[in-house]
Amino acid sequence: MEIHGFIFDLDGVITDTAEFHFLGWKRLADEEGLTFTRQDNERLRGLSRRDSLMALLRGRAYPEEKIQEMMARKNRYYLESIRSITPDDLLPGVQELLNEICAAGLKSALGSASKNAREVVARLGIGRLFDAISDGNSVERYKPAPDLFIHAAGQLHLPPRECIVVEDAAAGIEAARVGGFHTIGLGPPERVGAADAVFPGLAGVHLQDVLQALGGNGLPSAKRISG
Ligand code: BG6
Ligand code: MG
Repeated sequence: MEIHGFIFDLDGVITDTAEFHFLGWKRLADEEGLTFTRQDNERLRGLSRRDSLMALLRGRAYPEEKIQEMMARKNRYYLESIRSITPDDLLPGVQELLNEICAAGLKSALGSASKNAREVVARLGIGRLFDAISDGNSVERYKPAPDLFIHAAGQLHLPPRECIVVEDAAAGIEAARVGGFHTIGLGPPERVGAADAVFPGLAGVHLQDVLQALGGNGLPSAKRISG
């Protein structure tokens, strides 16, 4: 196994915007008189805005205009929430791991289905730590299709087998596996158990822990880090 790059999901991996997405959908569902629980929301993790709305509507038919309006309304609620994001909202361990990846001479990309990913990254102040950003505007087929991660790997000029995808969503793990990437799942095994290795989150997780969990030290000798 030779690793030259990492591709990180954003929402629920780098920062807890997964909660803001939930609150936005919950507010919309309440306004529309639809039942929507935290448990329902688990199935939406990682899905595009439209796929999320379709899951929330559970097959009920709506005119396209109403669908567009509901997506725009949820996005307004989401944008209101992310206005408060600062660098303090990075999830524990993220900054350290990104620094270690950079110090080891490996590349990092963001692979997020969100059309708001760039704004969130800017608010977190971590733009300079990524060599590439692939977001909801980069591809037409979203997770669980592999396109987003393949787009990100392409921007890094790396084949999928040399990249590790870090994800908190079942749809994201599936997308990465289909694309031929190594996978790290963050969260409960019921959700991300299909990943090659699972951690509860990135707190205290170092580059070497990730590489060892995947079954090797993985770094090309010139880039091996010590300590
Ligand atoms: C993903 C989130 O990263 O982005 C999903 O996990 C969200 O919950 C999706 O629906 C799309 O985000 P946005 O910001 O384009 O509505
Ligand atoms: Mg996510």
